[in-house]
Order: sequence, then C-alpha cells, then structure tokens
Amino acid sequence: MTGSKNTAEAIATSAAASATAFTTASTTTPTTDVVTTAAPTAGPTTATPTDLDARALTPEWWRSAVIYQIYPRSFADSDGDGMGDLAGITDRLWALTELGVDAIWLSPFYRSPQRDGGYDVSDYFDIDPLFGTLADFDRLLAAAHEAGLRVIIDIVPNHTSSDHQWFTEALAAGEGSEERARYMFRDGRGASGQLPPNNWESVFGGGAWTRVTEPDGTLGQWYLHLFDTTQPDLDWENEWVREKFREILRFWFDRGVDGFRVDVAHGMIKAPGLPDYTPPADSGSMGGTAHDSKHTGEPEPTAPYWAQPGVHEIYRDWRRIADSYPNARILAAEAWVDPLSRVAEWVRPDEMHQAFNFAFLETTWNAAALRRVIDASITTFGAVGAPSTWVLSNHDVVRHASRLALTADNLQGHGIGPKTVGLPDPVLGLNRARAASSLMLALPGSSYIYQGEELGLPEAIDLPDEARQDPTWFRTGGTRYGRDGCRVPIPWQAEEPSYGFGPTEASWLPQPSDWAAYARDRQEGVATSTLELYKSALRLRREHRLGVGSLNWLSGFGDDVVAFRNGDVSVIANAGDAPVPLPAGEIILTSRAFDGRTLPADCTVWLLG
Ligand code: NOJ
Ligand code: MG
Repeated sequence: MTGSKNTAEAIATSAAASATAFTTASTTTPTTDVVTTAAPTAGPTTATPTDLDARALTPEWWRSAVIYQIYPRSFADSDGDGMGDLAGITDRLWALTELGVDAIWLSPFYRSPQRDGGYDVSDYFDIDPLFGTLADFDRLLAAAHEAGLRVIIDIVPNHTSSDHQWFTEALAAGEGSEERARYMFRDGRGASGQLPPNNWESVFGGGAWTRVTEPDGTLGQWYLHLFDTTQPDLDWENEWVREKFREILRFWFDRGVDGFRVDVAHGMIKAPGLPDYTPPADSGSMGGTAHDSKHTGEPEPTAPYWAQPGVHEIYRDWRRIADSYPNARILAAEAWVDPLSRVAEWVRPDEMHQAFNFAFLETTWNAAALRRVIDASITTFGAVGAPSTWVLSNHDVVRHASRLALTADNLQGHGIGPKTVGLPDPVLGLNRARAASSLMLALPGSSYIYQGEELGLPEAIDLPDEARQDPTWFRTGGTRYGRDGCRVPIPWQAEEPSYGFGPTEASWLPQPSDWAAYARDRQEGVATSTLELYKSALRLRREHRLGVGSLNWLSGFGDDVVAFRNGDVSVIANAGDAPVPLPAGEIILTSRAFDGRTLPADCTVWLLG
C-alpha cells in the first residue's frame, strides 16, 4: 500500500525515534532480557512440557493472567493466501512464550461468510476453511498447552450469520413458526407494515431492522440486527436457543479450551415491548461512551437492548457449565456498559470470571482521570470479589499508540483515516502507549494485550477506501472509517514479503509501506525496543507478583502524575508536560530513556526501594 508521503514519514519517524531515544546514556540500567534473534519459521515450535498450573501464580489463574488477543486473520498466514490461519498461529506460539504471556484469546475462527470478520457465525461447530480444520484447531490447542499457554476462544451468542441454517430455516418457515421464534421477527408499523417495528439503530450505522420477503413472495415481517444486516439477533427468551448454546459451550470445553470471551455479553435480552430509544450522540464503537467521567458515576437508564437484567441468568447457567469442568475454565464478558458498577454485575461470584475494563480503555492520557478510573475499578470489582481486567487495545478500537495522541473529538472510536481531523502525532502516541502499557502491566489483576501492541504498532491510517472491509464503513457511507486500521496483518520480518506475515506478498488488508521499522525481527534483542519493553515488563510483573498484588496510592508527585506502590515496586507515570523529580530507588523498568533523575513527560518507571 502506498500511503500519503507525510503519513509514511511520520510513521517511520515514530519508530526511529523510539529506537534511538533509548540509545542515549542513562544513569540507570533498564533490565532487559538477553534474547537471541530467531526467524519466525525457525523458532522452537514445541516447548518443554509445562504444567499450566505451575505457571499460574494462583489456582485461579485468570485473576492475574496476561492474555494475548490473536485476531486470526492478521496474526500469521501459513499457506500464503493472505489470510492468517490456525497453522500460522501454531507455528509461532514460540513468540508468545518468549513474550511471556499466560494465555491467548482467539477471535472467531468458526465457519462464516466473513461479513464482520467472523463475528457472523454460520456454524459454531466447525472451523472456517479460510483458517483450517478442526484437526488444525486440536493441534493448536495441544501445542499451546504444551507451551504453557491457556486458550480462550470467542463465542458469539447475540446473533448468528444470516447464512446460518437456523436463519434460513426461519425465513422459509414463515410467520408464527417455531423456527422464526428463534430470532427477533416482528411485524412492521404503518398501514401495510412498511415501517420498522421501532426506531433502533444498528451499532454499525443505519437501521437495526430489515424486512424480509416471505416464502409466498410478498413483503413481510422485519428482523432485528443490532449489528450488520447479515447478523440477525437471536431471541434469548427462547429455551431452544439457550439449549443450543449449552451444546456449543460443551463441545468446545470437551475439546479442551480454557474459556470463552463472550461477544456482546451486554446484549442478548431486549426490554419487553421493544420500546423506541435514541442513543446519546457520543456513543462509542460498541455502544459505550468516550467520557472519562461517565464510567465512575451513578448508573443511568440504558438502552432497551443493553444490560437488561435478564442477561445475568444466562451467565449463571453458563457458569454452572464452566464449573462442571476441571481446571478453572473461564468466561470473560464483552459488556460495553457504563458505569463500572454496572459492569461489575457481570462478575458477581456466580456469574462470569472477567469483564473487560473498557472504562480504563476509554480513559484519555490524563493523570486525574486515570487515577479515578483505576481507583473505581479496583473498588468496584473488588466489592464483588472480582479482579479488574485491564485492556488498552483490541480489534474494535483505534490502536492505543495512535488513540492516546488523538486531538480530535474522536477519543475512543469510530476509527481514523486519511480525512480525520486532528490525526495523532506518531511519536507522541508511541511514547504515551509505552507509558500506558507500562502502567497497565503493573496493576493488580488480569491484563489483555492485543497482537501488535507489543511492537508499538500504530493504527494504519492510510488504507485506501477500496481496501476497507469493516461493515461500519459501508453502513455509514464512508463517514465512519471503522476498525480496519487496527486489523492489518502484523509485521514479523522487515525484509520478507508481507513483512513475514506469510510466505507471499498477499495480505487481506494492505500493510503500510513503512512497517519494516516495527517488524518483530528488528526489535528482538534491541534493549530499547517496544518488544523488549513488553518482555521486561511481563518478566518483572511475574517476579514481583504484581498481578496478585494490591495497589496503594503514593502522594506528593503533583496532579499530572499517577503514582502507586504494588508490593515492593513503586510505579510512577508522568502524564503531564513537565519533567517530574524522582525519588531514590533502583529503576527496574522505564518506558523510555531519560537521565534517571527527572521523569520526562509521557514516561512510566518502575522503582525498587
Ligand atoms: C464485538 C466484537 O468485538 C466486534 O468485532 C463485532 O463486530 C461485534 N461484537 C458484533 O459481533
Ligand atoms: Mg492462510
């Protein structure tokens, strides 16, 4: 892909700056692993058998685990078709054990027409041929376990693909049928039912209802789709649907998976009568909001399709299934709701184990806001006996190496592209991202890392319009860029075709022409690189048991600083513009180079003593 010259230069500058900033002499010695460079295909594919439980800090491994999100389309392509696949992941598990994570979460790999990157499932019991076969999955699972990595997979219960047999049966069976009752079919409003049943809008833009042509050829009922037209919502009041999903959970638990990340865990149940609702203008990409203050306040009325009380009984049921298996199988909620006290409802003792802390993700690089959200998270989740599950990036939001430097009023996300006003400064973004990740990985609780953030990858801004694939882009007539920019296949080897993503040039989304600087092999063994920063942080986090620690705020650093102690480590993050004097102590980690005495802007240190 050829991006605009300015953007390409800016991205290159960003990477160069991060690499050279550390080469200036520092009075301290940031601790880094000595790593031998290994080409991706030459890495050890089988690790020494590791006891998963021995690696976990506690039997409840999920309370402190660092979990690496793999977006299978974009991690590694084994067969050169430009699409990442399961065999590609298996071949490169070594990179994740070297990184030092505890588990992986795989975004969907099920059979799917891929209208929403696989979040449109047409068969929950099989692998899409794009990604491989069930045998490939079994090989991946066995290899991950052997390497000491637990495996969480995605489950998509709010909706199926419109290609799913259940939906084609529902269309064929007609109004009033058992088959139709599995989905949310309703008559339209207006004299001839020509108007949708209510005013709900799709999260991806446009209306949330589509009218069907009945088997006799006449225009008929409407079906609800909170997302794309090709993602009809299931009716979770229907016991048949509930039983089907119990079967799906057991199928994968029986195969040996360690848990599920549950897609749209705040949807599924809709308010009785499906009343009209107009969301606030500041709704984020998945229905959340971009206001730092919102997450910690009082609950407000929510949309009639989010966070309905009835969802919790579903998860109590699922928890009983998870608990019937040995070795702590987990459920992680994608519950994109406000405020934190409401999110905590998903992780009450008899419900799910984790709920992504999107309030933290949506917080800008502002010390007061960060202190507030961290404090509220620990208190609020703690009140129900749950850890916080920290996260800064995923496949739905602008990568935090770009997002944290956004100046436009687009702080969380409908994507950014060439025409976005207030594009982020890449150097500032990378500095902040490294500082924010160093802060996150020192917090007690579990953390998620999204593939590529350990390389400092920015959002791919200059994707050509014709390459974009996110339904958001199409459903909004190109007014929202959507999520393609965080989904570009990641770079492994600077000098290889597709930067070593696969054996050929092919890449389902074009890779920026200046991503060689971010390639894994350029960063490996370079003490100042983002990759080595992550490795050091993960090793030190384990050594100092930070994931199972507790947080005590430190005072006296000024308003622009986030400072706390966790065990024997003091963590100090400067989110302001001015340098801040540091107390005495041994610096064991620094997110960028400095003189060891005054902490520069956008930098986090871990101190001992
Ligand atoms: C949340 C997923 O993370 C996102 O990628 C998807 O588009 C929606 N749910 C709909 O399944
Ligand atoms: Mg492939």
